[in-house]
Amino acid sequence: MSENTLTITDNRTGKSYTIPVTDGTIRAPDLRQIKTGPEDFGLMTYDPAFMNTASTRSAITFIDGDKGILLYRGYPIDQLAEQCSYLEVAYLILFGELPDKAQLAAWQHDIRYHTFLHENLKALMHEFRYDAHPMGMFISMVSALSTFYPEANKVDDADNRLYQIKRLVAKVPTIAAFSYRHGRGLPFVYPDNDLSYPGNFLNMMFKMSEAKYTPNPVLERALDILFILHADHEQNCSTNAMRAIGSSRADPYSAMAGAAAALYGPLHGGANEQVLRMLRQIGDVRNVPEFIKRVKGGEGKLMGFGHRVYKNYDPRARIIKRTMDQVFDVVGRSPLIDIALELERVALEDEYFITRKLYPNVDFYSGIIYQMLNLPVEMFPVMFAIPRTIGWLTQWQEMIVDPEQKIARPRQIYTGSPRRDLKATDTHEPIPA
Ligand code: CMC
Repeated sequence: MSENTLTITDNRTGKSYTIPVTDGTIRAPDLRQIKTGPEDFGLMTYDPAFMNTASTRSAITFIDGDKGILLYRGYPIDQLAEQCSYLEVAYLILFGELPDKAQLAAWQHDIRYHTFLHENLKALMHEFRYDAHPMGMFISMVSALSTFYPEANKVDDADNRLYQIKRLVAKVPTIAAFSYRHGRGLPFVYPDNDLSYPGNFLNMMFKMSEAKYTPNPVLERALDILFILHADHEQNCSTNAMRAIGSSRADPYSAMAGAAAALYGPLHGGANEQVLRMLRQIGDVRNVPEFIKRVKGGEGKLMGFGHRVYKNYDPRARIIKRTMDQVFDVVGRSPLIDIALELERVALEDEYFITRKLYPNVDFYSGIIYQMLNLPVEMFPVMFAIPRTIGWLTQWQEMIVDPEQKIARPRQIYTGSPRRDLKATDTHEPIPA
């Protein structure tokens, strides 16, 4: 018998079954043969929240949560953050290899060529209330794009897919910036295609009356690094949503609107917004011990701490901490940083956080940089969505071409009422004969 097998004895029947183990995994459908009788549906696994279920094979991102390792296409995140631009990393994520000079130039050109939004979308944006959350606007605008590009539903056509991917990567900074300007009552600023990807984003956000906006190179690079750190993170909640929606062969705009909606939640990409609100609420370093005591007592969470996969320091948080110092040199030190550092210090020495392996995650420090870039907290989840676009789309494409994938459709354990018949007295709406 091969060593790469698992033998299961069903104590209900006394029967034994041998099933293959591949890549440290058994296939859940192999369990279906385990039955108590011909009427039995077969054994299933029960795994709410996918705590121990691999939903796909993927060659994009690797995480070792215990060691705090994150690789995109095999390259360590710290090397990519130090030596590459976001657009280079986006290319790497999408195509699997870093671009050579000519490939990079062509990719940059393609992205620049698609940064503008249809004017009707601008009009749509104006219809939102002045205080609409930018993430709500972002989700709606991405979804609306599908009505402008109906051909995007040809998801099995590789050229078509690539076209939509370029469009989305190019347009998300424009949508994000427009949502910010709308909330401020400021005129929209059109893309400046002479600038880098993050430089153009800063232009669309902050240009006022000057003829040409020149981004501060330190802030432009800091944003580029933040974009790199957020580009992909394997099978997280929003990526899982992207794959699940895309598995029905919905177009990528509709699928990505769903992914962005998943990111919006405070336990995922909305956490950076919550971190800032939390730091402001704590207000002073002296209030940190009391706050930690309340968290330990079950009154809320320490936002920006903990991760489903990382049971060690999130490597992205370490890089953000370094980048933050460079931003402070330009714009001055955030008064919130002392509270954040003290929270981290106290938490990392505290039994509660140590035993649960709770460390700062990517969202703990990113919000402080965004705040120093003059972004309102509501923009923070949008700042996560811009760079994650390439991750979502690459994961979506990987799912589309994977012959093992089908429409995502989990099973359930039914806990409702057994079959019962309606009585005449149960219904109250007259039904026309
Ligand atoms: N503060 C206090 N306690 C926590 C925290 C926290 N931030 N995170 C987890 N715990 C506790 C949790 O209460 C549980 O305790 P107990 O065993 O006594 O019930 C234990 O630690 C295990 O936590 P869990 O809820 O089973 O962990 P999970 O894998 O389901 O949740 C998480 C992961 C990220 C949702 C969670 O840690 C959390 O809510 N963190 C705060 C929100 C946050 O920062 N999210 C951003 C995640 S990173 C960016 C991204 O990918 O979106």
